[in-house]
Amino acid sequence: MRSMSVVRAVIGNPNPGGRTTTVGETVAGAVAELIGAESTETIELAEVAPHLFEWGNEEVKALTETVASSAVNVFACPTYKASYTGLLKAFLDNYGNDGLAGTMAVPVMVGAAPLHALAPEVHLRPLLVELGASVPTRGLFVLDTELDSLDDTVEAWADGAAVLRRLAG
Ligand SMILES: Cc1cc2nc3c(=O)[nH]c(=O)nc-3n(C[C@H](O)[C@H](O)[C@H](O)COP(=O)(O)O)c2cc1C
Repeated sequence: MRSMSVVRAVIGNPNPGGRTTTVGETVAGAVAELIGAESTETIELAEVAPHLFEWGNEEVKALTETVASSAVNVFACPTYKASYTGLLKAFLDNYGNDGLAGTMAVPVMVGAAPLHALAPEVHLRPLLVELGASVPTRGLFVLDTELDSLDDTVEAWADGAAVLRRLAG
């Protein structure tokens, strides 16, 4: 049984602490409220970036295990070249087949171009599904110029994500 008590925001941004972190943490907070989790935790993948290609690195291994032990993870990533970042992919490449089986994942991307609003669905969702995660809600794309209305955006997304409450129950 995976832990429902903490919702983790996994941030795939080479620049930690940016707008993507704000968005990921806000979505994690909304998910925690939906499923009745006690807290959220933010994981900045930039902090382990130098070790991601050292296969078997203990720090990276511990992080992959932490993420795989969560019932629900929010994967938040800036949009780079119409897709997720190499940082997020390099982290996820550390999992074996079905490494996220039994977890639920929420794909979230931040970007500058409305043209790329489907990137969470078209690119990030298949990556998470390939790892065995269930992705029961819509992905969320947030324009980096629209953070003023972030709470409204996330609230509207959460209204459509009530299935998480039922799945967590
Ligand atoms: C290398 C690079 C490539 C980018 N490519 C795209 C893109 O293809 N589509 C898009 O919408 N935004 C693109 N952006 C803009 C970023 O997605 C956006 O500024 C970022 O999500 C803001 O998050 P941050 O402030 O947390 O870094 C790119 C930014 C960089 C640095």
